[in-house]
Amino acid sequence: MAAHDACTLLDDDHNEVIRLFEQHKAAHEANRKRLLAAQICQELMVHMQLEEEIFYPAFRQARGSEDLVEDAEHEHREARELIAMIQQKQVDDRLMLELEDAILHHVNDEREKMFPQARKMQGLDLMQLAQQLEARKAELMVGHPA
Ligand SMILES: [Fe+2]
Ligand SMILES: [Fe+2]
Repeated sequence: MAAHDACTLLDDDHNEVIRLFEQHKAAHEANRKRLLAAQICQELMVHMQLEEEIFYPAFRQARGSEDLVEDAEHEHREARELIAMIQQKQVDDRLMLELEDAILHHVNDEREKMFPQARKMQGLDLMQLAQQLEARKAELMVGHPA
């Protein structure tokens, strides 16, 4: 049984990646910056996949509309384009800042709009979704320890 609801688990991921962006900005050494950038991209890819496979479909179904989910998926596509560009380069501070801005905006939408609505929805079992998220995350992180 998960100890936290799905929104809290997803927001833990958000906080972790925001912390990594701060570390990336504070880092000077090219190799450390490269490693942090790779970790940020990896964690974001897993997080977005979890949301798209488990959380967004449940939210969409409970809400009975595309609202919010459509915007969120659009923002994920934009983030993936930036991640693909970052992964092709050694170190690129400008792209990392662009990705950070995009992610901060997206996280804010989830925190301020989507999660508060999800917590009010009848028929959305956030504890059960948390269990699914935890199990799937463990699968996706195999071979990519944090
Ligand atoms: Fe998201
Ligand atoms: Fe998220």
